[in-house]
Amino acid sequence: MLRERIPDLSQFVEPDRVRKEVYTDPAIFELEMERIHETVWIYCGHESQVPRAGDYYAVQIGRQPMLMVRGADGKVNVLYNRCPHRGNMMCGDRHGNTGEFFRCSYHAWTFHHDGKLKNIPMMESGYQGTRYGRDNPDCSMKRAARVENYRGFVFASLASDGPSLKDFLGKAIVAFDDMCDRAPQGEVEVVPNCFRVIQHSNWKIFLENQLDALHPSVTHQSTGRAAHEVEKQIAKRTRKGEAPLSYHMLSAFATVTIDKWDNFQTLNYPDGHCILTGYMGLRPQDPDTRAYDKVMIKAYGQKRFEEIVGVNIHHVLLYPGLSVQSPLQQLRAVRPLGVDRTLTEIWHFRLKGAPEPIYRRSLAYYNLVNSPATIVNADDLENFWKCQQGLSSDGGDWVSFARHFGRDIEKNGVVESAPNCGTSEAPMRNQMKAWAAYMNGGR
Ligand code: FES
Ligand SMILES: [Fe+2]
Repeated sequence: MLRERIPDLSQFVEPDRVRKEVYTDPAIFELEMERIHETVWIYCGHESQVPRAGDYYAVQIGRQPMLMVRGADGKVNVLYNRCPHRGNMMCGDRHGNTGEFFRCSYHAWTFHHDGKLKNIPMMESGYQGTRYGRDNPDCSMKRAARVENYRGFVFASLASDGPSLKDFLGKAIVAFDDMCDRAPQGEVEVVPNCFRVIQHSNWKIFLENQLDALHPSVTHQSTGRAAHEVEKQIAKRTRKGEAPLSYHMLSAFATVTIDKWDNFQTLNYPDGHCILTGYMGLRPQDPDTRAYDKVMIKAYGQKRFEEIVGVNIHHVLLYPGLSVQSPLQQLRAVRPLGVDRTLTEIWHFRLKGAPEPIYRRSLAYYNLVNSPATIVNADDLENFWKCQQGLSSDGGDWVSFARHFGRDIEKNGVVESAPNCGTSEAPMRNQMKAWAAYMNGGR
């Protein structure tokens, strides 16, 4: 029905602009869920969320309620959160431990951690001569078609065909390498629990904001200025003339001006993934950093250490559902709920083996910049809601992504923003190019 109404979805996307219906039409949203979110690799969670056998975490993939669960064999499974008997949701809680097996609260069918049927009460007498029984796969909980784990980060795809996780991530896999390599033990562990924010806007509006280097010094200007004033006053009062580093995390929104953001660069990869290079100078030569450097040099040697801390990334966007700030060990997972409702999960991680103050720094950034409590987040959320309102009006038909259009540099399938064009809208153009390809069944 939808296909009759919208014969060619690519007509909604031009290289430098996009039709407003892409953000407001519930029928397009349904098709996005089918062709994008319920097809490609979607981040479920980190394996440290489910350390023990029977531990589970509920997660939404597209429209599907799923469970990430640790089996007794140590394997992390991803199952539909649905009992095959009469459809009851298996776990109503967001997370917990299911014990040695799942037991449905309705009629006590039981299942192993990999979803396979364990038992049905009085199965022999109740189901004799019927199509149901232990060997019928319809009596087991359905599994995600594919599950893969990269350095502890668990992804699932609900489509049985498609590229491997590594091929899908391509060069954007650096998000996880950069995060884990910064740990002296080469691994991170999740800090329970996450912040959850429901945005009253389409999921793509959030993703388009992530590598939007033009907006911080505008949207977050008042936040940055207020922090900078306090930072200066504190600096005056201290012996060394310095305010704590955390003030810099906020004041940078005022002190890093648009021309400085233009010095950064965006790298745009196939499938909509993008990287924003440059780093806001959060690695000063303070005693905490020096203590961390010492531990890292001991673990990796000087040469490898320099390589690791020299990775120059501010932000990695993994289309269509993940925004990673690897140098600060944070990520935000996008769970679309409806055409104008989006849940974001905001997680942060500990570098295994790193001194505690380095974790405190990540926590400060998490609270000051990414949490629902910070004004930075409120600044963005207000814009997202206002964008959704404006796009739902008859005030215009198009969204423009024309900033520095025509100046992008393409090398071996990677599109770089031109020199001194860090505020280019190349990442949004790249995301919509991937969107059009997915929606037209081109991938
Ligand atoms: S619905 Fe689960 S056992 Fe009946
Ligand atoms: Fe922002």
